[in-house]
Amino acid sequence: MMNTSWQLWRDRRGQLSPLRVGTLALLFFPLAKGLIDAQSIVHGARPINDMIHRAGFWALVFLGVTLAVTPLRRIARYGNLIDVRRMLGVGAFCYIAMHLTLFTASQMFDLAKVAHEISHRWYLIIGGTAWLGLATLAATSTDGMVRWLGALRWRRLHRIVYGIALLALVHYFQQTKADVTVPIFAASLFLWLIAYRLVAWWQDSSELSTLTLLGLSIAVSVVTLIGEAVGIGIAYHVSPMRVLDVVFDVSAGIRPGWQVLAAGLIVVAIDFVRGCWAKRSPRPRAASAA
Ligand code: HEM
Repeated sequence: MMNTSWQLWRDRRGQLSPLRVGTLALLFFPLAKGLIDAQSIVHGARPINDMIHRAGFWALVFLGVTLAVTPLRRIARYGNLIDVRRMLGVGAFCYIAMHLTLFTASQMFDLAKVAHEISHRWYLIIGGTAWLGLATLAATSTDGMVRWLGALRWRRLHRIVYGIALLALVHYFQQTKADVTVPIFAASLFLWLIAYRLVAWWQDSSELSTLTLLGLSIAVSVVTLIGEAVGIGIAYHVSPMRVLDVVFDVSAGIRPGWQVLAAGLIVVAIDFVRGCWAKRSPRPRAASAA
């Protein structure tokens, strides 16, 4: 039986769940950080804009964490992780609702102006479309809606999350004025998460071998390094080969391509260790079924 209780820290059997408590703490972390930084936010040049940025950033982070649940529960052989996926997804929506509310506040709650702004700027049209998509997913995330839609239609509908992630990333890139290091790193992590699903679908297997995970991580890292070089080359009218030189020069900072490789290698290490462990104690099949 599903837990429809408002007591989010309890699992479906009504017992206190450390995993749920940890997830709630994670979801409340940005709010707590906002409160700790309140002084600097209020005395900053554009307090509302600062808060808009924070809410948008954390919405994207939680969207990524939600998408990471499926690969992680397989790689870490921790099937229970699925229990907090909905909470994470709804959490991402709460931050995006906050993002739009703050934007509305920045327009003095003049709804006509908000609508005009959103429909006249490309980065807001794209963000607005992603917003509507996330709202649809949040609205259909209740047990009642899952039953009403049926599991197959619900799953099909929720595939729009990949399109939403893409739009959100474009929106992020479009409004980033100077340093694109963090947006590129975010995009490469999303690429890894999508590539994982594509390879699993192509191999017709819910689990990828440690070697495949290694290959996937290297491929995403190479695509990110080349993508960054080509992107900067086009934006600043310089040869991508010259940019690639900088990409390999670690004294100029560790580029996102290397960062995603490091993240990928951590995942590979987790898979390897958990794989050895599972050989000693057989893994419950239910963990890899969904
Ligand atoms: C109607 C919907 C939306 C509106 C009106 C909106 C508005 C904005 C605005 C005004 C900014 C700051 C731009 C600047 O300072 O020049 C921003 C930044 C941002 N937005 Fe949105 N946005 C929307 C939807 C979304 C969605 C759906 C996501 C992600 C799931 C998102 C993620 C972000 C991110 C990551 C940033 C940059 C944060 C940073 O700089 O760290 N936004 N948005």
